[in-house]
Amino acid sequence: MSENPSRRLPELKPVERRTFLRYSLIGATGAGLAGFGASLLGFLWPNLSGGFGADITLPVSAAELAAVIREDRAPYQFPAGRMYIVTWDPKMPGAEEQYGEFHAVTDDGVGLMALFQKCVHLGCRVPWCQSSQWFECPCHGSKYNKWGEWMGGPAPRGLDRFPSRIEDGNLIVSTGTVLTGPARTERVLQQEPEGPACVDL
Ligand code: FES
Repeated sequence: MSENPSRRLPELKPVERRTFLRYSLIGATGAGLAGFGASLLGFLWPNLSGGFGADITLPVSAAELAAVIREDRAPYQFPAGRMYIVTWDPKMPGAEEQYGEFHAVTDDGVGLMALFQKCVHLGCRVPWCQSSQWFECPCHGSKYNKWGEWMGGPAPRGLDRFPSRIEDGNLIVSTGTVLTGPARTERVLQQEPEGPACVDL
C-alpha cells in the first residue's frame, strides 16, 4: 500500500502577512544603513579611490578636451568629478587677472577651467542649456554664463571652481580644493544668452 504523502511531511504554515512585512522592513533598513556606511567611508577617505576629493586626471588629453568642447559648443561634463570643463581665451581683457589661478593653458594657448557643477544657491546640480549656452539651475532659476559667471537668480555669486594644471599633456583637477566663484559684480567675460532659455522661473 502506498504511503500518503501528507503523513510524511508536516503541513507548512503560510507566512503570516504581518511577520513577512516586519522582516522585509528589517532587511530594507539594514541594506539602507549598509549603503549609508559605505557612503560615509567614501566621504571620510575620498583619496582612496582617486574619485571626487582627490586630484583627478581627465581621461582624454587636454588638447582633445579643448577640441571636443569647441566642436560640441558645450562643456565637457565629468560626473565622477562633479565638474564641467570649459574653455576660454586667456588673452581676453581682464581674464588673466580674474581667473588666472583657476585655469590651465594648453600648448595651443587654450584656457581650460574646471567648474563645480553644484549650484552656489542651495546645491542643486546645474545642467547645461545648449540653446542659451548658459548653465541654468532648474531649482530656483539661477543662471550662469558659459564661464560660470552669475547672470541672474538667487545665487550669491558665480559657480565655484577647482584649481587645475596640465602635466604631460593631461588636465589634472584638484577636486579637494574648492575655489569660491567670482562675485556678482565681477562678470569679466560677459557673455549674453545665445538663444532661448531652458529654465524660466
Ligand atoms: S539651488 Fe540653484 S537656484 Fe537654488
